[in-house]
Amino acid sequence: MSAIAKPAIDILGVHKRFTLPRSFDDILRHPFARKRLEVLKGLSLSVPLGTTIGLLGPNGAGKTTLLRILAATVIPDRGTVTILGQDAVKHPGRIRQQLGFVLSDERSFFWRLTARHNLSFFATLANLEPKKIKARVVEVAALLQIEGELDKPFRDLSTGMRQRLSLARTLLHDPEVLLVDEPTRAMDPGAAQRTRKLLGRTLVEEMGKTVLLATHNLEEAQELCERVALLREGRIQFAGATADTLPQIAKIFAEDQE
Ligand SMILES: Nc1ncnc2c1ncn2[C@@H]1O[C@H](COP(=O)(O)OP(=O)(O)OP(=O)(O)O)[C@@H](O)[C@H]1O
Ligand SMILES: [Mg+2]
Repeated sequence: MSAIAKPAIDILGVHKRFTLPRSFDDILRHPFARKRLEVLKGLSLSVPLGTTIGLLGPNGAGKTTLLRILAATVIPDRGTVTILGQDAVKHPGRIRQQLGFVLSDERSFFWRLTARHNLSFFATLANLEPKKIKARVVEVAALLQIEGELDKPFRDLSTGMRQRLSLARTLLHDPEVLLVDEPTRAMDPGAAQRTRKLLGRTLVEEMGKTVLLATHNLEEAQELCERVALLREGRIQFAGATADTLPQIAKIFAEDQE
């Protein structure tokens, strides 16, 4: 075996374009025309094992699309995606157990069920051994400090607590690679700060997972990520150690706003 650690995530030349919906009128007038949006244009990125990398980029840059491609819920038009040495496009099933995806607007929880029942349900779906589920639910809830919320129905939880519950759910099967989409979106500054602290402590320091975190927030990237990458105009324009690369990205963000 090679002594050099392989990257946990290796993305090479990924292209993705979407066909946009058209109005009825437009379809009648030009039945064979297509409106297309090219979101990713040959994107490449490599993430070393055990690294937390922040994926920054303006609205609509394609951050969520890239995470969905990694989680094999969107298929790229071209390019290769390798996760833990497995081709994630051709064999998504092979890495599913080692992958966790935290969406920014999680809609699959059952609103009337308690947080505990929701977690138990998803633990069953994730194929956890039935006799271990009860304890594992309590364990992940403790990690994310939501033990006190476990017996409340999902619909009564605050945005911050829902986001933590999403993270807890993703950790149930102890995945090696985590894809986290805007973990503090729509949170007030206090809740965002608490969630960031938890993320830093549980995911980055304690667990040493490989984390790809999409965020708009430069401070969040600074606080949590060893590396950062800028996704803009369909490609990764910069990637590198946070200390060197984040100032470059901040400059581009500021210029874009002018
Ligand atoms: N299924 C789809 N069909 C058509 N267009 C789509 C689809 N999914 C995404 N898009 C478009 O692709 C572009 C990239 O979207 P994406 O959600 O990946 O961006 P993002 O960087 O995550 O943005 P944000 O910062 O707002 O979350 C957007 O213009 C979006 O409208
Ligand atoms: Mg997004």
